[in-house]
Order: sequence, then C-alpha cells, then structure tokens
Amino acid sequence: MTATPSPAAPTRILVTGGAGFIGSHYVRTLLGPEGPGDVAITVLDKLTYAGNPANLDEVRAHPGFAFVQGDICDPELVGKLMAEHDQVVHFAAESHVDRSIDGGAEFVRTNVVGTHTLIDAAHRAGIKTFVHISTDEVYGSIDEGSWPETHPLEPNSPYSSAKASSDLIALSYHRTHGLDVRVTRCSNNYGHHHFPEKVIPLFVTNLLDGKKVPLYGDGGNVRDWLHIDDHVQGIELVRTKGRAGEVYNIGGGTELSNKELTGLLLKACGADWETSVEYVEDRKGHDRRYSVDCTKSPRGTRLRAPQELRAGPRGDRPVVPRQPCLVGAAEGTGGPQLTRRRPSPRARVHPGPVPAFGAWPGDRRWPEPSGASEPCRTPAPSRTPAPSPTEDEEEP
Ligand SMILES: NC(=O)c1ccc[n+]([C@@H]2O[C@H](COP(=O)([O-])OP(=O)(O)OC[C@H]3O[C@@H](n4cnc5c(N)ncnc54)[C@H](O)[C@@H]3O)[C@@H](O)[C@H]2O)c1
Repeated sequence: MTATPSPAAPTRILVTGGAGFIGSHYVRTLLGPEGPGDVAITVLDKLTYAGNPANLDEVRAHPGFAFVQGDICDPELVGKLMAEHDQVVHFAAESHVDRSIDGGAEFVRTNVVGTHTLIDAAHRAGIKTFVHISTDEVYGSIDEGSWPETHPLEPNSPYSSAKASSDLIALSYHRTHGLDVRVTRCSNNYGHHHFPEKVIPLFVTNLLDGKKVPLYGDGGNVRDWLHIDDHVQGIELVRTKGRAGEVYNIGGGTELSNKELTGLLLKACGADWETSVEYVEDRKGHDRRYSVDCTKSPRGTRLRAPQELRAGPRGDRPVVPRQPCLVGAAEGTGGPQLTRRRPSPRARVHPGPVPAFGAWPGDRRWPEPSGASEPCRTPAPSRTPAPSPTEDEEEP
C-alpha cells in the first residue's frame, strides 16, 4: 500500500505593518484567490494612526491568518514570534515625510531601532529569509537619469534618513551573520486603502468635498508612481526568487510632476485649477525628483510596471497612473468615480465593502471598525498561537 504524501507545511511568514496601506494589500493578495496557497501569515502591527484593522477584514477568517497587536521595538514579543516563523516581510515604519519634519524621534525609534530589534531576533531564531521594504527616497534627489541599486545613499529628510539607516542595519546582518536579507526600494505607491494624509487620497477627498488642494512650491517636484498591485508582485518576486544580500529597485515607470498629477486628479473629479488649487509654501528640504533604475531583477523579470503605463498621446510619456478606485467615497455612490484607465489583467480592485471610507473627508481619521479596540488573534494552522497637508509615502 502506498502512503499518501502529506501536503507540505505552509511557509510561515511574519508580516510587520500588515494593517497599513501596502502591508495589508500584500496580506490580502497572498491569502486571496490568486495567492500562492502555501503560506500562513501572522501580521504584527502596533496599530498606530496609520494602521487600520479593517484593512484585514477580507482575510480575517482565513485559516492561515493571525493578527498580533504589538510593537516591533518589543524584543520579547518579537523574539517569541520569530521562533514561530520561517520568513519575515517587514513593512512596519513611520512613513510620512511631513510628520518626520515636524519631529523625527518616532521615525528613528520605529524605523531604526524597530528594524534592528526585528533583524537581530531573526538572526537568533534562524529565520530563512528577511525581506526589508524600503524606499527610493534613501537615494536623495536626482535631476536626470535614474539610480541603480549601487548608488550611494544620500537621504535628505528625517524619514528617508531613518529608512536608509534601517537598510544598512538590515544588510549588515547579511554581511556579518550571513542572514538571508533582501531589500526592496520602491517609488511612490498609489491605490485603494491609502491613508488620506498622502497626496492622492488627500487631493481626491478634498476635491470631492469641494475643497481646495494644497500644492507645494512651484508644483515641479517629480515622482514615479507605482500601483500597489505591481509593488506587491515585485515584493513576491523578491521573496520567492531574490538573492540573499541583494537590493532591488521597484518602480512604476510613470513619472509625473506634482502639477501634472494635480491636473489629472482635477480632471477626474471634475474640478478646475483656478478654484481648486492653492499653492502653499514648499516643504523644507523638498527632494526635486526621484527615479529608480529597475533593470535589475531576480531571474530576469523586470521589477517595474508594464509598459502600457507609459502610453501617452504619442506613446512617449505617461498620461495617468493606472487609476484604481482611490477612495471608497466614490464607490457605488453615483458620485465621481476614479476608475482604472486601462485595466490590467493582474489588477484587482478591492472586492469587498470598502470600510467606511466615507467617514474620511470629515476628520481624516480612521473610522472605528468593529472590534478595533480588541486585538484579533486568529491562530494560524498547525502551530501554537501563535499634520499638515501633504505628497510622498510619503508625499502630498
Ligand atoms: N507608501 C508608499 O508610497 C511607500 C513608498 C516606498 C516605500 N514605502 C515603505 O513601505 C512600507 C509600508 O508603507 P505604507 O505606506 O504601507 O505605510 P503605512 O504608514 O500605511 O503603514 C505602516 C504600518 O506600520 C505600523 N507600525 C508603525 N509603527 C509600528 C511599530 N513600532 N510596530 C509595529 N507596527 C508599526 C502601522 O500601524 C501601520 O499599519 C514602509 O516601510 C515605507 O517606508 C512606502
């Protein structure tokens, strides 16, 4: 009699910051119908102002999902969790540039001390792969051309300096201890579930409310826009096919000045420049342009969004980022809708009810989701329980 082979145990992934904008999309994707099917995920999130447990409602009942409310700076908790996992994908960070200009202490604590706490525990627990999510902002500002991963780090804001420090700490554990650390540096993300202090959801909610949008300086600062679907695909490629000790840029291939972006959002919301745009004093130390060279990739797949994004009047310049349903406020309300200009076969708009985003425009705070005050712990299988207006992550 032939014994039936037992199914392989799922890879147990600890995802930090999984209640935030990008981390939650990563978790929903991996545990969703198009996910790899061989993973169990524990989200570790402190639930700061930027973390919303409702972002994870879609996967809460998944047998491979667990949530732990906690701080990445807590060595005891982090050490215990590391012992129960195979891999780490580290999103948790203080992510908003303007807040870091107001005060950088929390950025140093979470982004630097927190990353060190995690990576040191990962090393001690024998974690197999540690993917550290970073940003193009660590390179500084570039007037022409694009940065390869080998470009020196020249960060300018307290946010990007703290991220650059965390990159170096993470990579030092590869060089010193041989830990399999992989770093991704991506450009500005956009997509649904984006916290409305960031430029796209802030401008859209303002415009839908009939308010003005604040445009920094001369509006000439240029950012590359990357849809979260494409970012998540890039991270997965790095997690599954990347190499230890390597850094991978991930870009969207859609560069827009803030003025161009504003024009697109005005058009989409049926607003006009004269009545809806207010030029405001430029951000201190505002980086002029970011641009990552995305030609390097694991196993030859380009870590950038499809070329279709670069279609323009003459096919020579981007017209609009692949517009998702940016804010749920417009969904199903008969109001102005922002829909993808050109649906991608891989693209999926959040299928479930958008959690009370309608509450955003008024107070810019997350609505209280049901059970939000209680940390949710859904055990994963086969183991014990486991400010001011703004543009970057990162902007307004
Ligand atoms: N959003 C972008 O455009 C962008 C671009 C490049 C890189 N990144 C990087 O991607 C990562 C995710 O960005 P995001 O936009 O999703 O951020 P976000 O601000 O939406 O989410 C951050 C999450 O981390 C959690 N968190 C914060 N401090 C914590 C702590 N001490 N312990 C545990 N959890 C904590 C928050 O509660 C939140 O859920 C960050 O590392 C950021 O630097 C973001």
